[in-house]
Amino acid sequence: MYRTCEVMENRPVCEGFMRVKLAVGDMAKGALPGQFVMVKCWEGNAPFFMRPFSVNNADASAGTMDLLYKIVGCGTGLMQKLAPGSEMRVMGPLGSSFKIEAGAARIALIGRGVGAAPMRYLAQKAAQGGIAVHVYLSASKEEYLFDKAAYERLGCKVNTTVDPARLVTAYFEADLARHRFDAAYVCGSNRLMRDIKRLMDTYRFAGYASLEEHMACGIGACKGCVCTVRDENGDEHYEKVCKEGPVFAIERLVK
Ligand SMILES: Cc1cc2nc3c(=O)[nH]c(=O)nc-3n(C[C@H](O)[C@H](O)[C@H](O)COP(=O)(O)OP(=O)(O)OC[C@H]3O[C@@H](n4cnc5c(N)ncnc54)[C@H](O)[C@@H]3O)c2cc1C
Ligand code: FES
Repeated sequence: MYRTCEVMENRPVCEGFMRVKLAVGDMAKGALPGQFVMVKCWEGNAPFFMRPFSVNNADASAGTMDLLYKIVGCGTGLMQKLAPGSEMRVMGPLGSSFKIEAGAARIALIGRGVGAAPMRYLAQKAAQGGIAVHVYLSASKEEYLFDKAAYERLGCKVNTTVDPARLVTAYFEADLARHRFDAAYVCGSNRLMRDIKRLMDTYRFAGYASLEEHMACGIGACKGCVCTVRDENGDEHYEKVCKEGPVFAIERLVK
């Protein structure tokens, strides 16, 4: 079931990217970092399916949720035209969330471009819990290092790169030599995910990745969003990114 929510703001962040703030009421209270919502802001069936977006931020006391989005096609093209006061149908929050282990003292958040959208909310929850948060962002341009100022306001230590020759995980690896990290959270790039898997084997920390797949239903009914995962015996099987994911333990992923 979806809820009809009022658009409070819908502003450009930089060329081709927008952030929409929605009045979602108590849906904000239930939102966990890493979860997503399915949205629809058009009448009729074109496009047919709702579109998935990560929770970029949620404020339980204000009853608001932010979505950071790239304008890529039909649905996001219609989203960008939404004026404050207009309505959007929102289903969620959906899917699995980033696990923060009890007693975690230091974590790493690693993301690329708009793929890092869910990290903002994770940083907020972790920082509120007194956890030291190191953020590693990469992008093709400075303006795509989304939410950098917000991370700094939260007290996170932020490393960035826009240099294709300099992987952001190099900064993380240098920090791993100095500090013990309890977990790393990755999204926005399979290459980053593979690099973190390599570091997990050497430095022994928990790793979680958020996956993106094309989604139709968003609730586990159509089986159109499967990925291959391993169970504890090493046997491979399919799981649905919308239902068992989008967040998976990295060691379970077959990529
Ligand atoms: C769990 C999840 C969370 C997401 N969170 C965000 C987010 O926070 N911000 C954001 O900007 N985007 C996010 N996305 C991607 C977003 O859902 C798509 O960009 C959006 O659905 C495109 O809709 P459209 O109608 O504008 O594009 P379409 O007209 O449907 O497609 C335009 C182009 O985008 C590609 N595309 C569409 N959907 C996806 C997808 N899921 N993955 C990869 N390529 C796609 C199409 O292949 C096509 O080339 C997320 C996707 C998932 C599955
Ligand atoms: S989108 Fe339908 S099962 Fe995942």
